[in-house]
Amino acid sequence: MTKPLNILISAGPTREPIDPVRYLSNHSSGKMGYALAAAARKFGTVTLVSGPTNLAAPKNCRVIKIETAAQMLKAMTQEFAKANLIIMVSAVADYRPAQVAKQKIKKTQATLTLKLIKNPDILKRLGSKKKPEQTLVGFAAETQKALAYGKKKLVEKNLDWIIINNVAKKGIGFGSAENEVTLVSRHGKTTHFGRQSKAALATKLLTVIAKSPR
Ligand code: CTP
Repeated sequence: MTKPLNILISAGPTREPIDPVRYLSNHSSGKMGYALAAAARKFGTVTLVSGPTNLAAPKNCRVIKIETAAQMLKAMTQEFAKANLIIMVSAVADYRPAQVAKQKIKKTQATLTLKLIKNPDILKRLGSKKKPEQTLVGFAAETQKALAYGKKKLVEKNLDWIIINNVAKKGIGFGSAENEVTLVSRHGKTTHFGRQSKAALATKLLTVIAKSPR
């Protein structure tokens, strides 16, 4: 990739409302996605689709803020056609409450059962629409068999690259300033990046991906 890239990155968690005061979410801080967005500025224009985080918007990036997986799907679908490098780092909630209560749920019952329904797999949908000139990159957050599960996601979601993250390891992953990941290409090229700051890691990942996008 020698010409400037149009880069689309998703970051952070999604929030799935239960009622007006509660939601389902996960531990994603958005740090890895924001670090990638900041580093990506050296490679082209950057649009960041972000779930709720406490982070300052990276400089010189266009930021689209969303809350739910449905809103992330809409934003990513709208931006996808304009992008030639798409990296989904966001921790999309896999399920959402089947119904959102209009009023605050009162604690009248001893137990409460929530019915959840599956959210769309945004990355998989993008993978099914991918054009030959587009590079699609996913993240795999795993707590066991990280390499095997990560490679399975690479194939099932029709990705060019997957960044595999063992989130069970202490000091890396969710909320940490540092991370340690394995980058795998669709051709099986595998590169391990040892523990380092998310900022340093972001530049290294982008350099490898930009050199051989597909
Ligand atoms: N992803 C997505 N839409 C979802 C779930 C995940 O786009 N509904 C994307 C994530 O942004 C990430 C990749 O798919 O780039 C893998 O996400 P991960 O949470 O590791 O795995 P899942 O596909 O959700 O599978 P599982 O939860 O079974 O591990």
